[in-house]
Amino acid sequence: MADEHALGQHSGTFFVVRGPVEPGDKRGRELGFPTANIALRNQSGQVGDGVWAGWAERADGTHVAAAVSVGRRPTYYGADGYRLVEAHLLDFKGDLYGETLTVWLGAHLREQQKYNSGEELIEALDRDVAATRKWIEENPASQLPDLGTPPPDGEVRRLG
Ligand SMILES: Cc1cc2nc3c(=O)[nH]c(=O)nc-3n(C[C@H](O)[C@H](O)[C@H](O)COP(=O)(O)O)c2cc1C
Repeated sequence: MADEHALGQHSGTFFVVRGPVEPGDKRGRELGFPTANIALRNQSGQVGDGVWAGWAERADGTHVAAAVSVGRRPTYYGADGYRLVEAHLLDFKGDLYGETLTVWLGAHLREQQKYNSGEELIEALDRDVAATRKWIEENPASQLPDLGTPPPDGEVRRLG
């Protein structure tokens, strides 16, 4: 009989958000962590702010591991920033602007933090990427649940 726990620590719940990649303010590139930004249409949403390990699914159906931030970037914008999804695709180089990306949030890694410097944020991002690499070992893209009809752009769907 299949072991139900064979999937590792993953609880089985995913949040999925999809939408066209919008230009950010390019700071991510300077920090060494470029991000694909997706606007959240429903600001209340079902998903809380935080940092997640997950997968980004490209328009051609391929998957790239991603460390994903959901929130208002308090380090730079205080509490007044608008909420967005920012996916840093691991080991990826290329231009995603305008492409429709489907982002799967699998494991909640931590809350959003206000850091005192770019250096502190970079250290946190390094840890997020390491945690994401661990998570994808146990949660390969081939085991993502079926999305069915995709949610409208910018709306968060909960699966499982
Ligand atoms: C994995 C990940 C974690 C992040 N965590 C935080 C955070 O805790 N606090 C914060 O202010 N911003 C966080 N950010 C957002 C960065 O501040 C943002 O990506 C950076 O400022 C670049 O913005 P840009 O894409 O508009 O250029 C995170 C981004 C990523 C990809």
